[in-house]
Amino acid sequence: MIQRVFVIICLFPLNQAALPLVINTWNFENAANAAWSALQKGGSVLDAVERGCSQCELEQCDGSVGFGGSPDERGETTLDAMLMNGDTMEVGAVADLRRVKNAVGVARAVMEHTEHTFIVGESATIFAENMGFMSEDLSTNKSIAIFSQWLQQNCQPNYRKNVFPDPSKSCGPYKPKAKLWKPKNPKGNFDPSSHDTIGMIAIGKNGQVAAATSTNGATHKIPGRVGDSPVAGAGAYADSTAGGAAATGDGDIMMRFLPSFLAVDLMRNGAQPTVACKMAISRIKKYYPNFFGAIICANTTGGYGAACNKRPGFSQFPFMVVNPQTNQSQLQKVDCF
Ligand SMILES: *[C@@H]1O[C@H](CO)[C@@H](O)[C@H](O)[C@H]1NC(C)=O
Ligand SMILES: *[C@@H]1O[C@H](CO)[C@@H](O)[C@H](O)[C@H]1NC(C)=O
Ligand SMILES: *[C@@H]1O[C@H](CO)[C@@H](O)[C@H](O)[C@H]1NC(C)=O
Repeated sequence: MIQRVFVIICLFPLNQAALPLVINTWNFENAANAAWSALQKGGSVLDAVERGCSQCELEQCDGSVGFGGSPDERGETTLDAMLMNGDTMEVGAVADLRRVKNAVGVARAVMEHTEHTFIVGESATIFAENMGFMSEDLSTNKSIAIFSQWLQQNCQPNYRKNVFPDPSKSCGPYKPKAKLWKPKNPKGNFDPSSHDTIGMIAIGKNGQVAAATSTNGATHKIPGRVGDSPVAGAGAYADSTAGGAAATGDGDIMMRFLPSFLAVDLMRNGAQPTVACKMAISRIKKYYPNFFGAIICANTTGGYGAACNKRPGFSQFPFMVVNPQTNQSQLQKVDCF
Protein backbone atom coordinates (compact mmCIF):
# COMPACT_ATOMS: atom_id res chain seq x y z
CA MET A 1 0.00 0.00 0.00
CA ILE A 2 2.72 2.46 0.99
CA GLN A 3 4.62 1.48 -2.12
CA ARG A 4 1.60 2.12 -4.30
CA VAL A 5 1.08 5.59 -2.84
CA PHE A 6 4.75 6.33 -3.42
CA VAL A 7 4.54 5.26 -7.05
CA ILE A 8 1.45 7.38 -7.66
CA ILE A 9 3.13 10.45 -6.19
CA CYS A 10 6.21 9.88 -8.35
CA LEU A 11 4.14 9.55 -11.47
CA PHE A 12 2.07 12.65 -10.77
CA PRO A 13 3.88 15.26 -8.68
CA LEU A 14 1.54 18.02 -7.42
CA ASN A 15 0.63 20.72 -9.92
CA GLN A 16 1.70 18.45 -12.74
CA ALA A 17 0.10 16.76 -15.67
CA ALA A 18 -2.73 14.38 -14.83
CA LEU A 19 -5.85 14.24 -16.95
CA PRO A 20 -8.72 14.72 -16.77
CA LEU A 21 -8.57 17.73 -14.48
CA VAL A 22 -11.20 19.79 -12.64
CA ILE A 23 -10.16 22.98 -10.86
CA ASN A 24 -12.35 25.66 -9.31
CA THR A 25 -12.08 28.85 -7.27
CA TRP A 26 -12.58 28.84 -3.46
CA ASN A 27 -13.25 25.83 -1.28
CA PHE A 28 -16.40 24.79 -3.12
CA GLU A 29 -15.83 21.09 -2.67
CA ASN A 30 -19.21 19.72 -3.70
CA ALA A 31 -18.99 21.67 -6.93
CA ALA A 32 -15.64 20.05 -7.73
CA ASN A 33 -17.07 16.61 -6.91
CA ALA A 34 -20.16 17.19 -9.04
CA ALA A 35 -17.99 18.15 -12.02
CA TRP A 36 -15.70 15.18 -11.48
CA SER A 37 -18.60 12.78 -11.23
CA ALA A 38 -20.01 14.15 -14.50
CA LEU A 39 -16.68 13.34 -16.18
CA GLN A 40 -16.55 9.87 -14.61
CA LYS A 41 -20.01 9.16 -16.02
CA GLY A 42 -18.74 9.95 -19.50
CA GLY A 43 -19.91 13.56 -19.64
CA SER A 44 -18.03 16.17 -21.66
CA VAL A 45 -15.87 18.87 -20.11
CA LEU A 46 -18.71 21.29 -20.84
CA ASP A 47 -21.13 19.03 -18.92
CA ALA A 48 -18.64 18.94 -16.06
CA VAL A 49 -18.30 22.71 -15.62
CA GLU A 50 -22.04 23.18 -16.01
CA ARG A 51 -22.80 20.54 -13.38
CA GLY A 52 -20.15 21.94 -11.03
CA CYS A 53 -21.46 25.50 -11.22
CA SER A 54 -25.08 24.30 -10.99
CA GLN A 55 -24.18 22.54 -7.74
CA CYS A 56 -22.98 25.85 -6.30
CA GLU A 57 -26.14 27.60 -7.48
CA LEU A 58 -28.22 24.99 -5.62
CA GLU A 59 -26.11 25.23 -2.47
CA GLN A 60 -25.89 29.04 -2.64
CA CYS A 61 -22.11 28.69 -2.19
CA ASP A 62 -20.94 31.37 0.26
CA GLY A 63 -24.13 33.31 -0.38
CA SER A 64 -22.39 34.74 -3.43
CA VAL A 65 -23.61 32.16 -5.96
CA GLY A 66 -27.25 31.38 -6.69
CA PHE A 67 -30.52 32.66 -5.22
CA GLY A 68 -30.95 34.49 -1.91
CA GLY A 69 -27.63 36.36 -1.89
CA SER A 70 -26.11 39.75 -2.72
CA PRO A 71 -29.35 41.77 -2.86
CA ASP A 72 -28.96 44.91 -5.02
CA GLU A 73 -30.03 48.46 -4.07
CA ARG A 74 -33.64 47.45 -4.54
CA GLY A 75 -33.25 44.22 -2.56
CA GLU A 76 -33.36 41.91 -5.57
CA THR A 77 -30.96 39.03 -6.25
CA THR A 78 -29.99 38.72 -9.92
CA LEU A 79 -27.63 36.17 -11.46
CA ASP A 80 -24.74 36.23 -13.94
CA ALA A 81 -23.19 33.14 -15.53
CA MET A 82 -21.27 31.99 -18.59
CA LEU A 83 -19.67 28.93 -20.04
CA MET A 84 -17.19 28.44 -22.85
CA ASN A 85 -16.33 25.48 -25.06
CA GLY A 86 -12.61 25.62 -25.85
CA ASP A 87 -12.95 23.22 -28.80
CA THR A 88 -15.41 25.37 -30.76
CA MET A 89 -14.88 28.76 -29.03
CA GLU A 90 -18.64 28.91 -28.44
CA VAL A 91 -19.79 30.97 -25.45
CA GLY A 92 -23.18 31.14 -23.74
CA ALA A 93 -23.78 33.86 -21.16
CA VAL A 94 -26.53 35.55 -19.18
CA ALA A 95 -26.40 38.58 -16.90
CA ASP A 96 -28.83 40.42 -14.67
CA LEU A 97 -30.97 37.28 -14.94
CA ARG A 98 -34.07 37.67 -12.76
CA ARG A 99 -36.22 35.02 -11.07
CA VAL A 100 -34.43 31.97 -12.49
CA LYS A 101 -32.13 29.92 -10.25
CA ASN A 102 -30.04 27.87 -12.67
CA ALA A 103 -28.15 30.70 -14.38
CA VAL A 104 -25.37 28.52 -15.82
CA GLY A 105 -28.03 26.21 -17.27
CA VAL A 106 -29.62 29.19 -19.01
CA ALA A 107 -26.15 30.20 -20.28
CA ARG A 108 -25.84 26.74 -21.80
CA ALA A 109 -29.23 27.17 -23.45
CA VAL A 110 -28.01 30.45 -24.97
CA MET A 111 -25.05 28.51 -26.39
CA GLU A 112 -27.07 25.57 -27.67
CA HIS A 113 -30.37 27.08 -28.73
CA THR A 114 -29.37 30.47 -30.17
CA GLU A 115 -26.76 31.98 -32.47
CA HIS A 116 -26.09 34.59 -29.79
CA THR A 117 -23.49 34.72 -27.05
CA PHE A 118 -24.97 36.90 -24.33
CA ILE A 119 -28.57 37.64 -23.23
CA VAL A 120 -29.39 39.96 -20.32
CA GLY A 121 -32.04 41.22 -17.91
CA GLU A 122 -35.77 40.66 -18.08
CA SER A 123 -35.38 39.39 -21.65
CA ALA A 124 -33.03 36.66 -20.42
CA THR A 125 -35.76 35.61 -17.98
CA ILE A 126 -38.32 35.36 -20.77
CA PHE A 127 -35.82 33.38 -22.85
CA ALA A 128 -35.20 31.04 -19.89
CA GLU A 129 -38.93 30.51 -19.33
CA ASN A 130 -39.36 29.63 -22.99
CA MET A 131 -36.49 27.14 -22.66
CA GLY A 132 -38.33 25.43 -19.80
CA PHE A 133 -36.65 26.97 -16.74
CA MET A 134 -38.90 27.71 -13.79
CA SER A 135 -39.50 31.31 -12.79
CA GLU A 136 -39.52 31.89 -9.02
CA ASP A 137 -38.69 34.49 -6.38
CA LEU A 138 -34.94 34.52 -5.70
CA SER A 139 -35.19 36.33 -2.38
CA THR A 140 -34.88 34.51 0.93
CA ASN A 141 -35.25 35.56 4.55
CA LYS A 142 -31.51 36.07 4.54
CA SER A 143 -31.39 38.33 1.49
CA ILE A 144 -34.38 40.30 2.82
CA ALA A 145 -32.58 40.72 6.17
CA ILE A 146 -29.36 41.89 4.47
CA PHE A 147 -31.39 44.40 2.49
CA SER A 148 -33.42 45.80 5.38
CA GLN A 149 -30.33 46.16 7.55
CA TRP A 150 -28.67 48.09 4.74
CA LEU A 151 -31.69 50.41 4.47
CA GLN A 152 -31.59 50.95 8.23
CA GLN A 153 -27.94 52.01 8.05
CA ASN A 154 -28.67 54.71 5.45
CA CYS A 155 -27.77 52.47 2.49
CA GLN A 156 -24.13 52.01 3.59
CA PRO A 157 -21.98 50.87 1.93
CA ASN A 158 -22.91 51.63 -1.67
CA TYR A 159 -21.21 52.08 -5.03
CA ARG A 160 -22.23 55.68 -5.80
CA LYS A 161 -19.87 58.62 -6.28
CA ASN A 162 -20.13 62.22 -7.43
CA VAL A 163 -23.82 62.41 -6.61
CA PHE A 164 -26.16 64.34 -4.40
CA PRO A 165 -27.27 63.64 -1.67
CA ASP A 166 -23.90 62.55 -0.22
CA PRO A 167 -23.82 58.78 -0.84
CA SER A 168 -21.56 58.21 2.18
CA LYS A 169 -24.39 59.40 4.41
CA SER A 170 -27.69 59.04 2.59
CA CYS A 171 -29.87 56.78 0.53
CA GLY A 172 -30.97 57.79 -2.96
CA PRO A 173 -32.50 58.67 -5.28
CA TYR A 174 -29.27 60.34 -6.34
CA LYS A 175 -28.63 63.15 -8.81
CA PRO A 176 -25.29 63.85 -10.51
CA LYS A 177 -23.05 66.41 -8.84
CA ALA A 178 -21.68 69.08 -11.17
CA LYS A 179 -18.14 68.95 -9.80
CA LEU A 180 -16.36 65.61 -10.00
CA TRP A 181 -13.85 64.69 -7.31
CA LYS A 182 -11.58 61.77 -6.69
CA PRO A 183 -11.57 60.35 -3.16
CA LYS A 184 -8.09 60.02 -1.59
CA ASN A 185 -8.91 56.53 -0.41
CA PRO A 186 -11.11 54.71 -2.89
CA LYS A 187 -13.95 53.11 -0.97
CA GLY A 188 -13.04 49.53 -1.81
CA ASN A 189 -16.45 48.28 -0.78
CA PHE A 190 -15.68 44.78 -1.95
CA ASP A 191 -15.57 42.50 1.06
CA PRO A 192 -13.29 39.50 0.56
CA SER A 193 -15.02 37.63 3.39
CA SER A 194 -18.16 37.32 1.29
CA HIS A 195 -16.08 35.78 -1.54
CA ASP A 196 -17.73 35.77 -4.86
CA THR A 197 -18.17 33.67 -7.88
CA ILE A 198 -17.47 30.11 -8.69
CA GLY A 199 -15.11 29.85 -11.65
CA MET A 200 -14.30 26.38 -12.93
CA ILE A 201 -12.07 24.82 -15.58
CA ALA A 202 -12.25 21.22 -16.79
CA ILE A 203 -9.62 19.62 -19.04
CA GLY A 204 -10.56 16.34 -20.73
CA LYS A 205 -8.39 13.28 -21.30
CA ASN A 206 -7.39 14.58 -24.72
CA GLY A 207 -6.82 18.14 -23.60
CA GLN A 208 -10.28 19.54 -24.42
CA VAL A 209 -10.89 22.67 -22.35
CA ALA A 210 -14.12 24.11 -20.95
CA ALA A 211 -14.67 26.86 -18.39
CA ALA A 212 -17.68 28.31 -16.59
CA THR A 213 -18.65 30.85 -13.94
CA SER A 214 -21.71 31.66 -11.85
CA THR A 215 -22.35 34.47 -9.37
CA ASN A 216 -25.01 36.71 -7.90
CA GLY A 217 -22.64 39.67 -8.12
CA ALA A 218 -21.79 42.36 -5.60
CA THR A 219 -23.97 42.99 -2.54
CA HIS A 220 -25.85 46.35 -2.71
CA LYS A 221 -24.85 46.81 -6.35
CA ILE A 222 -26.65 49.36 -8.47
CA PRO A 223 -29.44 47.47 -10.29
CA GLY A 224 -28.25 46.40 -13.72
CA ARG A 225 -24.58 46.23 -12.72
CA VAL A 226 -22.76 43.32 -14.36
CA GLY A 227 -19.29 42.27 -13.25
CA ASP A 228 -16.56 40.22 -14.85
CA SER A 229 -18.01 36.74 -14.36
CA PRO A 230 -20.24 36.41 -17.44
CA VAL A 231 -17.83 38.22 -19.77
CA ALA A 232 -15.68 35.92 -21.91
CA GLY A 233 -11.99 36.63 -21.34
CA ALA A 234 -12.74 38.40 -18.05
CA GLY A 235 -14.52 35.90 -15.76
CA ALA A 236 -13.28 32.85 -17.65
CA TYR A 237 -11.76 31.74 -20.93
CA ALA A 238 -11.17 28.38 -22.59
CA ASP A 239 -9.17 27.44 -25.66
CA SER A 240 -8.32 23.79 -26.29
CA THR A 241 -5.14 24.82 -28.10
CA ALA A 242 -3.80 26.62 -25.02
CA GLY A 243 -5.68 26.13 -21.74
CA GLY A 244 -8.29 27.67 -19.48
CA ALA A 245 -8.51 30.34 -16.79
CA ALA A 246 -11.15 31.71 -14.41
CA ALA A 247 -11.04 34.79 -12.22
CA THR A 248 -12.72 35.89 -9.00
CA GLY A 249 -12.70 39.08 -6.97
CA ASP A 250 -13.56 42.71 -7.58
CA GLY A 251 -15.13 42.27 -10.99
CA ASP A 252 -15.67 45.97 -11.60
CA ILE A 253 -11.90 46.40 -11.72
CA MET A 254 -10.84 43.00 -13.03
CA MET A 255 -13.05 43.08 -16.12
CA ARG A 256 -11.08 46.05 -17.44
CA PHE A 257 -8.03 43.80 -17.94
CA LEU A 258 -9.50 40.57 -19.39
CA PRO A 259 -7.30 38.56 -17.02
CA SER A 260 -8.62 35.14 -18.10
CA PHE A 261 -7.94 35.84 -21.75
CA LEU A 262 -4.51 37.19 -20.90
CA ALA A 263 -3.56 34.11 -18.85
CA VAL A 264 -4.68 31.72 -21.59
CA ASP A 265 -2.80 33.70 -24.21
CA LEU A 266 0.35 33.62 -22.08
CA MET A 267 0.03 29.82 -21.78
CA ARG A 268 -0.36 29.68 -25.55
CA ASN A 269 2.98 31.40 -25.78
CA GLY A 270 4.60 28.85 -23.48
CA ALA A 271 4.06 30.24 -19.98
CA GLN A 272 3.53 27.71 -17.18
CA PRO A 273 0.07 28.01 -15.60
CA THR A 274 1.39 29.51 -12.36
CA VAL A 275 3.42 32.12 -14.23
CA ALA A 276 0.48 32.97 -16.51
CA CYS A 277 -1.78 33.45 -13.46
CA LYS A 278 0.78 35.70 -11.76
CA MET A 279 1.27 37.85 -14.83
CA ALA A 280 -2.48 38.35 -15.20
CA ILE A 281 -2.68 39.53 -11.58
CA SER A 282 0.42 41.74 -11.99
CA ARG A 283 -1.15 43.54 -14.93
CA ILE A 284 -4.05 44.68 -12.72
CA LYS A 285 -1.82 45.37 -9.70
CA LYS A 286 0.12 47.93 -11.69
CA TYR A 287 -2.96 50.17 -11.75
CA TYR A 288 -4.84 48.96 -8.64
CA PRO A 289 -2.22 47.75 -6.13
CA ASN A 290 -4.91 47.04 -3.52
CA PHE A 291 -7.51 45.31 -5.65
CA PHE A 292 -9.14 42.13 -4.36
CA GLY A 293 -8.76 39.28 -6.83
CA ALA A 294 -7.47 35.85 -7.73
CA ILE A 295 -7.24 33.62 -10.80
CA ILE A 296 -6.83 29.91 -11.57
CA CYS A 297 -5.08 28.62 -14.71
CA ALA A 298 -4.76 25.18 -16.29
CA ASN A 299 -3.04 24.02 -19.46
CA THR A 300 -3.99 21.29 -21.91
CA THR A 301 -1.69 18.68 -20.38
CA GLY A 302 -3.14 19.10 -16.88
CA GLY A 303 -0.63 21.49 -15.36
CA TYR A 304 -2.34 24.09 -13.20
CA GLY A 305 -1.69 27.03 -10.93
CA ALA A 306 -3.30 30.00 -9.18
CA ALA A 307 -2.38 33.50 -8.06
CA CYS A 308 -3.93 36.26 -5.97
CA ASN A 309 -3.22 39.85 -4.99
CA LYS A 310 -2.06 40.26 -1.41
CA ARG A 311 -3.95 42.89 0.58
CA PRO A 312 -5.16 43.32 4.15
CA GLY A 313 -7.41 40.39 5.02
CA PHE A 314 -6.45 38.36 1.97
CA SER A 315 -3.10 36.57 1.99
CA GLN A 316 -4.05 33.09 0.77
CA PHE A 317 -6.43 31.93 -1.90
CA PRO A 318 -8.05 28.48 -1.61
CA PHE A 319 -9.06 26.45 -4.66
CA MET A 320 -10.20 22.88 -5.39
CA VAL A 321 -8.44 20.37 -7.64
CA VAL A 322 -9.49 16.91 -8.81
CA ASN A 323 -7.40 14.71 -11.09
CA PRO A 324 -6.70 10.97 -11.40
CA GLN A 325 -3.88 11.33 -8.89
CA THR A 326 -6.41 12.00 -6.12
CA ASN A 327 -9.73 10.91 -7.70
CA GLN A 328 -11.39 13.21 -5.15
CA SER A 329 -11.51 16.91 -4.60
CA GLN A 330 -8.50 18.32 -2.80
CA LEU A 331 -8.27 21.75 -1.21
CA GLN A 332 -5.13 23.63 -2.19
CA LYS A 333 -3.96 27.11 -1.27
CA VAL A 334 -1.69 29.62 -2.90
CA ASP A 335 0.06 32.49 -1.10
CA CYS A 336 -0.90 35.87 -2.51
CA PHE A 337 1.86 38.19 -3.70
C1 LIG B 1 -38.86 33.15 6.81
O1 LIG B 1 -39.57 34.07 7.59
C2 LIG B 1 -40.95 33.74 7.77
C3 LIG B 1 -41.66 34.89 8.48
O2 LIG B 1 -40.85 35.47 9.46
C4 LIG B 1 -41.05 32.41 8.53
O3 LIG B 1 -42.39 32.05 8.70
C5 LIG B 1 -40.31 31.34 7.75
O4 LIG B 1 -40.30 30.14 8.47
C6 LIG B 1 -38.88 31.77 7.43
N1 LIG B 1 -38.29 30.81 6.53
C7 LIG B 1 -37.13 30.23 6.75
C8 LIG B 1 -36.68 29.27 5.71
O5 LIG B 1 -36.48 30.45 7.74
C1 LIG C 1 1.58 22.44 -18.48
O1 LIG C 1 2.03 22.80 -17.20
C2 LIG C 1 2.89 21.85 -16.62
C3 LIG C 1 3.14 22.28 -15.17
O2 LIG C 1 3.63 23.57 -15.13
C4 LIG C 1 4.14 21.71 -17.44
O3 LIG C 1 5.00 20.74 -16.89
C5 LIG C 1 3.75 21.32 -18.87
O4 LIG C 1 4.90 21.29 -19.69
C6 LIG C 1 2.74 22.29 -19.43
N1 LIG C 1 2.24 21.80 -20.70
C7 LIG C 1 2.31 22.52 -21.81
C8 LIG C 1 1.71 21.90 -23.03
O5 LIG C 1 2.86 23.60 -21.84
C1 LIG D 1 -12.60 7.09 -8.70
O1 LIG D 1 -13.61 6.97 -7.72
C2 LIG D 1 -14.83 6.46 -8.23
C3 LIG D 1 -15.86 6.54 -7.13
O2 LIG D 1 -15.29 6.49 -5.85
C4 LIG D 1 -14.59 5.04 -8.74
O3 LIG D 1 -15.79 4.53 -9.26
C5 LIG D 1 -13.54 5.09 -9.84
O4 LIG D 1 -13.23 3.80 -10.28
C6 LIG D 1 -12.28 5.76 -9.32
N1 LIG D 1 -11.35 5.94 -10.43
C7 LIG D 1 -10.06 5.69 -10.32
C8 LIG D 1 -9.23 5.97 -11.54
O5 LIG D 1 -9.55 5.28 -9.29
